[in-house]
Amino acid sequence: MAVKEIALESLNVQEFIEDKAKEISSIVGDGVAINALSGGVDSCAVTMLGHKAIGSRLKTYFIDNGIMREGEPQSIVELFKKMGVKVGIVDAQDKFFNALKGVTDPEEKREAVTQTFYKDVFGKLVGDSGAKYLLQGTILTDVDETIAGIKRQHNVFEQLGIDPQKAFGYKIIEPLVQLRKDGVRKVAAGLGLPESSYKRIPFPGPALAARVIGEVTREKISVVRIATTIVEEELCHTGAFQYMGILHQDRVTGMRDGKRDFGLQIEVRCWDSIDARKATPTNVPHDVLCKLADRIVAEVPGVVSVTYNITQKPPSTIEAI
Ligand code: XMP
Repeated sequence: MAVKEIALESLNVQEFIEDKAKEISSIVGDGVAINALSGGVDSCAVTMLGHKAIGSRLKTYFIDNGIMREGEPQSIVELFKKMGVKVGIVDAQDKFFNALKGVTDPEEKREAVTQTFYKDVFGKLVGDSGAKYLLQGTILTDVDETIAGIKRQHNVFEQLGIDPQKAFGYKIIEPLVQLRKDGVRKVAAGLGLPESSYKRIPFPGPALAARVIGEVTREKISVVRIATTIVEEELCHTGAFQYMGILHQDRVTGMRDGKRDFGLQIEVRCWDSIDARKATPTNVPHDVLCKLADRIVAEVPGVVSVTYNITQKPPSTIEAI
């Protein structure tokens, strides 16, 4: 069944929050639901919505998959503690890195993250908690792009004819699925989340694995994680929709301490966009880009080349895999 979009102009935030809270509460009844908080605006909004609807009968977890940004588990747990929501951290790093071992194809990497998340990690958590429902922050752009065959977004199932109940043993509730990113930000603000959260740039479900070309290893993730921190620090003043560092697979010849260094390449992308359906590269001042490159080669071990993407979406996509 096609999802009916609620465009930003027709979104009444308070009404939406009340309606969705009622809907969640009537579906879950007096049972228990579970959700994973990744720290992105979609999952933050869904967590607050779920807690508004069913309080502590929503069990919220942060899955530490080893492919998140620097300091993420702790800062998210702290933020939600301040909002009165308890978040459990689940260490699943080994499971994710094992599933990603030897996988180089982009869609297979996405699938490895999806299966590990929904089947191995969540399947067990749901079983242990007695929950029958998973609450998640799928938005309309995720559904569109998956159906169009552009990218298999890790959180889209029913629209692909996959029954989560049969595949994973639980039902999925998606209260944000009629919204795009701009609408979710408004709802997140309406739910009382801080600006640092509702204005946060988007981050993909497959996390930093979407920003490593080729096989994902702990070593490559630690390289792209440092690059990500620098890119976010240096580009946060641009007002861009999203920005990121991508670790390439090919090496290039560089020089360090007067010697040849066959080193790593980081590609920087910075996007202007309204809702991620189309995007154009941000006109970042040259001196900002140069400072960014200087920091990346100085602070990220092994990097000798930094490039800036100047392609539009389409035909590019925002993430690299
Ligand atoms: P692309 O790369 O398809 O990204 O142009 C469009 C927007 O979606 C984000 N993205 C994802 N979000 N699960 C998500 O929840 C995913 O699997 C996923 N892949 C990409 C991306 O960061 C961008 O904002």
